[in-house]
Amino acid sequence: MIKDANSTAYRAARLSVAPMMDWTDRHCRYLHRLLSRDTLLYTEMVTAPALVRGGALHLLDHDPSEHPVALQLGGSDPKELAQAARLGADAGYDEINLNVGCPSDRVQSGAFGAVLMQQPGLVADCVDAMRAACDVEVTVKCRIGVDDQIPEEVLPEFLARIVGAGCTRVTVHARKAWLQGLSPKENRDIPPLDYGLVHEMKGLFPNLHISVNGGITSVDQALGFLEGGLDGVMVGRSAYHAPTDILATADRRIFGGDRDSSAEEAVEGMLPYIEAHLTQGGRLGQITRHMLGLFAGRPGARQWRRILSEGAHKPGAGPELVEHALAEVTAAQELAAAG
Ligand SMILES: Cc1cc2nc3c(=O)[nH]c(=O)nc-3n(C[C@H](O)[C@H](O)[C@H](O)COP(=O)(O)O)c2cc1C
Repeated sequence: MIKDANSTAYRAARLSVAPMMDWTDRHCRYLHRLLSRDTLLYTEMVTAPALVRGGALHLLDHDPSEHPVALQLGGSDPKELAQAARLGADAGYDEINLNVGCPSDRVQSGAFGAVLMQQPGLVADCVDAMRAACDVEVTVKCRIGVDDQIPEEVLPEFLARIVGAGCTRVTVHARKAWLQGLSPKENRDIPPLDYGLVHEMKGLFPNLHISVNGGITSVDQALGFLEGGLDGVMVGRSAYHAPTDILATADRRIFGGDRDSSAEEAVEGMLPYIEAHLTQGGRLGQITRHMLGLFAGRPGARQWRRILSEGAHKPGAGPELVEHALAEVTAAQELAAAG
């Protein structure tokens, strides 16, 4: 408990950006880190079999600037997860998180993700094995239940089991997952949110650090949860689609720092990173696809998106395209201010 409560990731978990497959890759995390120094960032889910059996250690690559950064693992075999957790800790991750929330078919057939809500004993064994295998915090991201489970009954039982295994921090996506009949995308919107239940869990488990996730779209809303007694807030889609709105004021408003960042600063910060990526044979679009929402809701947003989406895949496209798009945004802003 003490070890965990003092960790960098534990403190950073007041606000986190959710793990999102295909979205929160290392380029996305680099961008998010430029917008907020303090927010905890999560990787996409990496499966334990891919690391342990497949030897896909490149999936652990990340930039030193990303800290505090958590690796999310998928799996259900305690031994394999323990090995994967050790690999993650050795690679420098500040936290290892176990995915008990993802409902996709592929993940169900591997018997991990949300289906594990039905096997709290196995999840506890996984947490126990992962904790024994590494020195960094081991956390869990779960749902409130699956299918016809009764959340008020299963969630406290689930949390009691993982707390018993030494887990001191959990993120609860405050809706059920329906394992049959809904796509992963529908499973993020259709089952209703029950924030009240997450608050109740804080009452039942006062020493467990609980973050709430699901449908949170603003810093004001995040502060409401923190002021209401929860320990952390995890934001997914809003942080991806409008990263500046969520992250640029987070260091000051959520963590008590004294300065905000800006989309413009983040763009400037991305230029050398882009340059380095291209030098290593990477493509511009791999990075700029995560930058499309930087000016969301502001003058010039449309030009920004258009210039980057149309230009980034053309042969030879480089940082000049991003500079050109930024100049268009600045011009659109000056025009809006003048008019
Ligand atoms: C494109 C996408 C990919 C996702 N991949 C993961 C994942 O790898 N692991 C996970 O635990 N959750 C995953 N999620 C779920 C998010 O982490 C989060 O729980 C969910 O989007 C609800 O939060 P939000 O309403 O703030 O987006 C994904 C969500 C999206 C939109």
